[in-house]
Amino acid sequence: MTYLALPAMIQKPRALWRSFARKLASIWPKGLYARSLLIVILPMVILQCVVTYVFMERHWQLVTTRLSTALTQDIAALIDLSIAYPSEAELDTLSRIAQDRLKMDVEFLPKGPLPPSLSKPFFLTVDKALSNEIRKQIGRPFWLDTVGRSNFIEIRVLLDHSILRVVAPRSAAYDSNSYIFILWMTGTSLVLIVVAIAFLRNQIRPILRLVRAAEAFGKGRNVEFRPRGAREVRQAGYAFIEMKRRIERAIEQRTTMLNGVSHDLRTILTRFKLSLALMGGEETEEVQKDIEEMQRMLEAYLAFARGDAGEPSVSVDMRSFLEELCADAERHGHDIKMSFAGDPVVTVRADAFKRCLANLIGNACRHAKTISIDGQRDARFLTIHVDDDGPGIPADRRDDVFRPFFRLDEARNQDEGINDGTGLGLAIARDIASSHGGDITLGESPSGGLRATVRVPV
Ligand SMILES: Nc1ncnc2c1ncn2[C@@H]1O[C@H](COP(=O)(O)OP(=O)(O)OP(=O)(O)O)[C@@H](O)[C@H]1O
Ligand SMILES: [Mg+2]
Repeated sequence: MTYLALPAMIQKPRALWRSFARKLASIWPKGLYARSLLIVILPMVILQCVVTYVFMERHWQLVTTRLSTALTQDIAALIDLSIAYPSEAELDTLSRIAQDRLKMDVEFLPKGPLPPSLSKPFFLTVDKALSNEIRKQIGRPFWLDTVGRSNFIEIRVLLDHSILRVVAPRSAAYDSNSYIFILWMTGTSLVLIVVAIAFLRNQIRPILRLVRAAEAFGKGRNVEFRPRGAREVRQAGYAFIEMKRRIERAIEQRTTMLNGVSHDLRTILTRFKLSLALMGGEETEEVQKDIEEMQRMLEAYLAFARGDAGEPSVSVDMRSFLEELCADAERHGHDIKMSFAGDPVVTVRADAFKRCLANLIGNACRHAKTISIDGQRDARFLTIHVDDDGPGIPADRRDDVFRPFFRLDEARNQDEGINDGTGLGLAIARDIASSHGGDITLGESPSGGLRATVRVPV
């Protein structure tokens, strides 16, 4: 073997092992519960199989062979006696003694052919052991039935002038009590498995509760969570609570700071306006307009930055929720259609969610004539498409429009005086969707305009 051949030799078992591991991983259950159950049950089943096999192989076979030997010895003795004392009366006595002392039914049938041999039973042990012994000790043609009757075995041996028929209890040749051992073993392990299932269930429940709490927090819902269970699970729970507290504290700090800033800036702006009003005159008009614009932008930005952290989640009927929004748009003279499929009751922060959709519908109203709203709810998501037939947004600008204060056609709209927006609508809408654990995507609607899709987990 050359030195170079070695890596290839190592690589082959490695590749084999990898493909075996991959296959194992594909059939191995994914859930922790099923995995832990397997970890407990699999060794138990393997142990039982090994013990049963060894037991059957050694003990059971040994005992059965011994019993078969003894039974065959009795039969051989009976045959010898029947040859030594062949008269009818003597044979009758022999049968009686066998009946009384050996618990066997012995009969001498007239000579004839033996019945055809039977198909071999599944558990061959007793059949094989008896056949071997008869062949060894008696050495005459014989016929054996170990399965015909449940509690007896029948043996026929061809003698010189007759056929000896022996019906012996099954227990004389067969260690039938072994089943009890297996029954006990299986019964005990079943009890142990039930206990293991109960224990595991209790261990896994706290993990599932932590998962649910983290999911709810991700969706922006209120979370009532107290760590329970094993130490490691509890530690994970406390770490989660700590993380949640830190996030909430950061949001709170941001809100407080923004409130302070807004208050201070508003005071200064009011002072500006007052001074300008006192000055009066044509020149100040421009500056006054700019200050008003600034104030409006400031309010909008603060509203955006403040977010809606405080609002609790509630169950709402999404169908009537959307109908209400449509009615608002219709009142402003827009042609709007709505459809909804699936269970309409979902848990959202109602005001925030309404603002999110109102921003999208507002945009559609501003840029298009006809609007269609299409809601769907399946097992995992609530999806709402807002489609319009306006100019749409080119694919390469769809990311930009989510940036705060970004307006796509700022110049044109301002000339036409139709856009009095601040460019925050989509940013706010996306913020709300992600605070529900979802997102907003933009695309092209079937009528060529813009399709805004809100998707939140339910
Ligand atoms: N349905 C739409 N069709 C075409 N363009 C759109 C549509 N919706 C939004 N846009 C473009 O995306 C830009 C950003 O929208 P966004 O809602 O963030 O701001 P806005 O509507 O200008 O202001 P605000 O919503 O704060 O009043 C808009 O200026 C507009 O150019
Ligand atoms: Mg808008």
